[in-house]
Amino acid sequence: MSEVKMIAVVGGGQMGSGIAQVAAMNGIDVFLHDLDPQALSKASSSISSSIHRMVSKGTISQTAGVDVLKRLRFTSNLEDFHTADFVIEAIVESEDVKKSLFVKLDKITKSSAILASNTSSISITRIASSTTRPRQVIGMHFMNPPPVMKLIEIVRGADTSDDTFAATKALSERLGKVVITSQDYSGFIVNRILMPMINEAFFTLYTGVATKEDIDTGMKLGTNHPMGPLELADFIGLDVCLSIMRVLHTGLGDNKYAPCPLLVQYVDAGRLGRKRGIGVYEYS
Ligand code: CAA
Ligand code: NAD
Repeated sequence: MSEVKMIAVVGGGQMGSGIAQVAAMNGIDVFLHDLDPQALSKASSSISSSIHRMVSKGTISQTAGVDVLKRLRFTSNLEDFHTADFVIEAIVESEDVKKSLFVKLDKITKSSAILASNTSSISITRIASSTTRPRQVIGMHFMNPPPVMKLIEIVRGADTSDDTFAATKALSERLGKVVITSQDYSGFIVNRILMPMINEAFFTLYTGVATKEDIDTGMKLGTNHPMGPLELADFIGLDVCLSIMRVLHTGLGDNKYAPCPLLVQYVDAGRLGRKRGIGVYEYS
């Protein structure tokens, strides 16, 4: 595949907006689409304030900042994606919703375009099977927050071609990221290991072993993690954590992956973490 000139990102939440920012900062034109107009305007203002912060700190020049913002276009019309070389999907962590989006993307985008998913855990092989181009479907898993975190986990579905893998790896490196490669099993590498730890932190809280503050301080100061597991769960989104645990539980078929009832209850109550102002902790 020749060099990617235009990326289309679907989903303007915390991941999609961060991915769009990273692409624009690396000289690539970006279309960002979300169904929800409010999400699009929030994405636009959070990218602008992140760029302005970098300009005021001197991390990038004023001219570079203006250029980054010029490379970004926000759209509520998926049809605008017909010119994209590479699509990165970052919508809700639901297999059915992702599959129905990939059916549409398969029809709208040019036949050479690669369709990547930023899914945290869902089978790339099954997402790919909803398209007529499974060889051009791949997992491209950014970490949160995408502008800061160095890693991209690339996931090859059963039919992903070597050319698709090579183009995705080249793009990830052009974005300044380090690549690891995972086979297509539930949760891949990072979340297979991280989410059971977060789930166990919920069980530690649920069974009254310790307070939330002591659990987080224990893991921050005891193991040098930048955030405690409950603070990190709020940062990721409790809905995202629960969806991943459910995929691990179903996909790997072991009860050790059963989501903690407290995590389920928080999500049922709409306590989704920082994005809602309340999760394990409250945010003002
Ligand atoms: N966008 C752009 N830049 C950001 C940012 C964002 N959303 N958030 C923070 N930054 C930048 C800040 O501007 C700052 O930059 P400078 O050093 O140039 O000043 C730098 O990052 C550090 O930020 P802060 O000083 O505000 O805060 P901090 O030192 O506490 O770091 C953090 C914030 C980077 C988020 C850090 O707490 C951290 O690394 N936390 C753990 C994050 C993590 O584990 N992510 C992976 C989650 S798992 C996942 O993503 C996979 C999944 O599928 C769920
Ligand atoms: P989010 O809730 O912040 O944003 C999701 C966005 O997708 C919302 O703005 C929503 O309006 C939009 N959306 C939903 N369905 C859509 C559709 N059919 N078409 C267009 N837009 C649609 O979620 P997020 O945290 O950004 O997660 C997005 C994806 O990235 C998920 O698959 C998640 O597992 C993955 N991911 C999340 C993290 C994290 O830490 N939150 C890290 C890595 C990967």
